[in-house]
Amino acid sequence: MDTGKQTFMLCAACHGTEGKAVVPNMAPNLAGSAYVNGPSERLAMIVLNGIQYPGQYLGQMISWKAQLSDEQIAGVLTYIRSNFGNSAPAITPDKIKAAREKHGARNTPYPRAELDQVTANL
Ligand code: HEC
Repeated sequence: MDTGKQTFMLCAACHGTEGKAVVPNMAPNLAGSAYVNGPSERLAMIVLNGIQYPGQYLGQMISWKAQLSDEQIAGVLTYIRSNFGNSAPAITPDKIKAAREKHGARNTPYPRAELDQVTANL
């Protein structure tokens, strides 16, 4: 949980320390987000490879797979799933390792329509 809180400082620049976008057009709120509270595989994919809502937000959600370890991604996802009024189960580093093996070769962010087809938990 400490790792997650620390790692979240990287995300807070856009998503806000309380999970509400710093500037409304900058990024989506993580508080109450269906992606944050939904299937864990889909959430891991977003952080590993990025997501794109063309033209909707000023910021950009890049891929974090090169910067962050499995422990850091598991920590930050567990942190955002259990704060800001969200309540979804924790995600462990071994699950992120598995997601990385499955999705790590991709090098473009996901369009939303593609993510919406993913319904599995890791
Ligand atoms: C430079 C700004 C920026 C940073 C830093 C950032 N994000 Fe994002 N994030 C975005 C934007 C913008 C989107 C919406 C996608 C788009 O329009 O490209 C987004 C989308 C998301 C979504 C989908 C939420 C939804 O409901 O649509 C999640 C989950 C997410 N980010 C998590 C994170 C995590 C975890 C971190 C830190 C490791 C992080 N973001 C760091 C800008 C950022």
